[in-house]
Amino acid sequence: MSFHLTEFTTQESFVDAAVAKIVGILKENIQKKAWASLVLSGGNTPKLVYAKLAEVSDVDWSKVYLFFGDERYVPSNDQQSNFAMAQNYLLSKISVPEAHIFRVKTELSFEDCVLDYEQQIQQFFETHNHAVIQFDLVLLGLGEDGHIASLFPNTPALDEQKSLVSENVTTTLAVRERITLTYPALESAAKTLFLLTGSGKKAVLLQSGSTSDFKQYPAARILARDNVDVLGFFH
Ligand code: 6PG
Repeated sequence: MSFHLTEFTTQESFVDAAVAKIVGILKENIQKKAWASLVLSGGNTPKLVYAKLAEVSDVDWSKVYLFFGDERYVPSNDQQSNFAMAQNYLLSKISVPEAHIFRVKTELSFEDCVLDYEQQIQQFFETHNHAVIQFDLVLLGLGEDGHIASLFPNTPALDEQKSLVSENVTTTLAVRERITLTYPALESAAKTLFLLTGSGKKAVLLQSGSTSDFKQYPAARILARDNVDVLGFFH
């Protein structure tokens, strides 16, 4: 099985489709089990989607639990922080209880914030899903090098097979130290939604979708799974 790609010719239709898909999955899970878990992606692409998501009125955010696919090791109020971006475009505009937001606590040491985030996730699923780790929806972007979250090509975090969270380091981006969900966490997703914008992303998507070399193309391992949708605005 491999991913399903839907391409859009306008940014507006891309954003509307992304919001509709996210809202649909949240509502379906809330109806089914009274709560929903959503892993937010970082970077720039999600900003417009989050802003539109904040405007929808028919999501009961009091029943949604929010996690992060990865974080840069910067203060949570730093403009490069994925939490700060989500806070600005979404979290500050919706009535989600603070206790439902699982933030990577970058005020801790690098090692401790990885351990703390892992514990937050494990404890959540201990009490909400009989210890079964399964995110209802994971949002992901895609880097032009094929990275997802902060799983960069040929980096140690790709080899993690047990922990849900790992530290990782990139040499190609401004913030080198990263905290990221690992493959075990990302592969626990009931559904995965890639949100891609930019002319360079279609080529790396197709490359990643047609190889099994996930060391070089980390997205490959996720794109090969069931229930993976990709929404693309490649202009
Ligand atoms: C981050 C993201 C990262 C992002 C891709 C794509 O921390 O930056 O988690 O994985 O999704 O780099 O970023 P854009 O959507 O901004 O192109």
